Amino acid sequence: MRVKNLALKNFRNYADERFEFGDGVNVIAGDNAQGKTNCVEAVFLLATGYSPRVKKDRQVISYGKEKAEIKLEAASLYGKVEVSLSYYAQGDKKILINGAETKRSGELFGNVYAVYFSPQELKLIQESPEDRRRFLDIAISELSRKYFYSLVKYKKIIDQRNKLLKEPDRETVLDTLPIWDEQLAGYFADVVTARNDFIEKLGPEAEKAHAFITDGKEKLSVSGGLKYFGDRDDIIEQIKIDLMNSTDKDLALGYTSIGPHRDDLKILLNGEDVRAFGSQGQQRTAALSLKLAELEILKNHYGEYPVLILDDAMSELDEARRKRILKKVEGVQTLITCTDHDAPVFSDKNFTLFKISDGKIMEKVGL
Ligand SMILES: Nc1ncnc2c1ncn2[C@@H]1O[C@H](COP(=O)(O)OP(=O)(O)OP(=O)(O)O)[C@@H](O)[C@H]1O
Ligand SMILES: [Mg+2]
Repeated sequence: MRVKNLALKNFRNYADERFEFGDGVNVIAGDNAQGKTNCVEAVFLLATGYSPRVKKDRQVISYGKEKAEIKLEAASLYGKVEVSLSYYAQGDKKILINGAETKRSGELFGNVYAVYFSPQELKLIQESPEDRRRFLDIAISELSRKYFYSLVKYKKIIDQRNKLLKEPDRETVLDTLPIWDEQLAGYFADVVTARNDFIEKLGPEAEKAHAFITDGKEKLSVSGGLKYFGDRDDIIEQIKIDLMNSTDKDLALGYTSIGPHRDDLKILLNGEDVRAFGSQGQQRTAALSLKLAELEILKNHYGEYPVLILDDAMSELDEARRKRILKKVEGVQTLITCTDHDAPVFSDKNFTLFKISDGKIMEKVGL
């Protein structure tokens, strides 16, 4: 996957700018608050419709403007891809994929595939299971739109089921639960099996990436999921039994206590919980390793590497780790943001450098 260019209009602090990216490492450098993250955020929005920073779509529109427009052209093994997103101040959004409009943001997945590491990704290690589920959900949605749609439906039914569990009339609740559970079990099974498959691949890839970055000095292990086995019908039956068995507990709690919305990943470094014992640099390395594992899984799926976005990934890492990361991503189109202070680490690489100031490219050096 190669992102050829990116055009930004009234997007965050960009009035009107266009990036022509090189095939290898693209360094986006500048002082704080100049638009480095905004640039790579746009690429990830076009790939997935998602950004860890966006709570409401309209936040991305430049202050006081009516409409933001972002657009990119890319080339994949499967041909040329053009994706554009327009955000309107009233709150709606227009999605164009190769010129055709779609209302479903899930259709974005699988056109431009990208892996995004941002400092917020440290939450993967430090924060709640919800952050780790979000990581799994976006990564797996990039592999399969069907997963994304199953997940959306699963969450809708869970919301309705949870409302029902709070109803005071027990008899109605007990009569209605099986009807919801019949529908729920199918989507539950789709989500569980896809997560199991993904985690099974993630563990060994993350361990490999981590060993590479730390030169074999540390061992990362990632596990989770895997409660249900067998074919889809078997799993659906097991899920229905589990849902039935947890009815009393769910009624007492007022919410559904089992299911993919409760999953978590277990991340150990040298056998210890990395969250409790890892240093800053170790936690960052572990988070990066998860992302590099995702990169390999996407590559095995699509037959080519996705675009890798490393937003402020290198700070807190020593020079040896930085160099090994750059070595690891040779041959992958990479967008790296850094302050000018960090830029020299790339000096012996073949790269394209964009110097950014106040939402504008001031200088472009390289290919
Ligand atoms: N909707 C918006 N309209 C105008 N400006 C915005 C909007 N959203 C964010 N900005 C501005 O964009 C600026 C740059 O943001 P960005 O996160 O890209 O900086 P950065 O170059 O990555 O900085 P750092 O090195 O600190 O990470 C911020 O000053 C912010 O106020
Ligand atoms: Mg930034």
